[in-house]
Amino acid sequence: MTTGEAAVATGPTAPGPVDWFPLQLPGVPAGPAAARAAALAGKRARTPVEPMAAFGEDGAVWTVYRYDDAAAVLADDARFSLGVVEERYGAVLGRSVLTVAPRARRALRRVLATHLHPDDPAVAELVESVVTERVAALAPAADGPVDLVPLLAAQVPARVLVRLLGLPGEEWAAVAGLASAAAGFLSDPRGAIRAARALRRSFAGRLHATGPGDDVVTALARVEVDGERLAEAEVVASLLLLAWAGTETAHPAVLTCLYAVLAHPGVASAVRADPALALAAVDEALRWEAPVQVTSRRAERATRIGDTVVPAGATVLVHLGSANRDERRFADPDRFDLARSGSPGHLAFGTGVHRCLGWQLARTEVAACVRVLLDRWPDLRLAEDSPPPEGAVLRSPRRLLVHLR
Ligand code: HEM
Repeated sequence: MTTGEAAVATGPTAPGPVDWFPLQLPGVPAGPAAARAAALAGKRARTPVEPMAAFGEDGAVWTVYRYDDAAAVLADDARFSLGVVEERYGAVLGRSVLTVAPRARRALRRVLATHLHPDDPAVAELVESVVTERVAALAPAADGPVDLVPLLAAQVPARVLVRLLGLPGEEWAAVAGLASAAAGFLSDPRGAIRAARALRRSFAGRLHATGPGDDVVTALARVEVDGERLAEAEVVASLLLLAWAGTETAHPAVLTCLYAVLAHPGVASAVRADPALALAAVDEALRWEAPVQVTSRRAERATRIGDTVVPAGATVLVHLGSANRDERRFADPDRFDLARSGSPGHLAFGTGVHRCLGWQLARTEVAACVRVLLDRWPDLRLAEDSPPPEGAVLRSPRRLLVHLR
């Protein structure tokens, strides 16, 4: 199914302001995987495009649960915009690569995609060295169960990111802390704005200090559209977005993927026997429990999704986690199946013009964590009380307790 402009004006009228945060979809538990999977399967079967009366006036907010509908909404940038993100996060984020004019966006995306890509040997070496060093640092904790949240997941993406941004390696904790505070805008707006201001200052400082270097900041400082440099505020906002998106999502992804591999001992053995399978295991884990379960768009005009017309101005919540478990797309979708790689792609990174800019980097980071850990600690296993993934928007285990030997 695809989206299409509504031929008839019978849908609900344009909605007013809505409040869907904190997001807790009625009838969809954020906790145990089996109950959540059953609830989402019910939504896909019975209400694939569902009005969310709990979040605002009738017709203001809708959730899309099926794969084809989710992919069609994300692919249709003209009808479904990121206006909703601008409304919600504009005050803290500013105009970044998410919302600048299309030509500037394309120029920014091109530069970012190149500089974040693990095909660049310098990027691949950076990831490998950060992961190897972090895994080695676990040794002193090897005698008891150890929580991989503070020692690994919180550190790897942040350490990689600050180095890519050309910042001193030891700034990883400060940058990750500020990015996390900025991302908490909906629950603590003042704290978020303060944190974003501090990050902006730091990035603007880097921007002014750029020389002939080869890092992301230097490359962004040189981006031109029609012979003109981009506004500094747009470049700085894009760096802020990078700090936010590069740490807040990759951190849960490391946890979810390691949990998925260790909770399926056959998968862990297969990767131990053939480390090249680590990437396929990560792809399947990202399908199985998408770390970002939901993203959102605004309908720019009344548009048909499946059999339903959503009105102009509606907020559309795109349920990536549900789409990735859609039985119309993936056979036996609740099963973690390493052999699934090569099957049609999952939506954990979105799709279309706003597809995640760090997706290759993130897969490489997480796969390196899986591979290097399994290699260094041949008896690595989950502790019995290690909790499973949870959460309605960002979804991952809150702790990852393992025995290293
Ligand atoms: C496994 C970890 C990650 C996951 C699951 C993830 C997920 C996503 C998703 C779902 C979107 C698109 C949302 C939409 O279309 O509405 C997105 C966008 C984005 N991500 Fe990621 N991401 C991850 C890691 C990263 C990393 C490591 C970086 C950067 C270093 C990054 C940077 C971005 C940026 C800049 C965007 C906005 C792209 C645009 O709109 O043009 N992400 N990510």
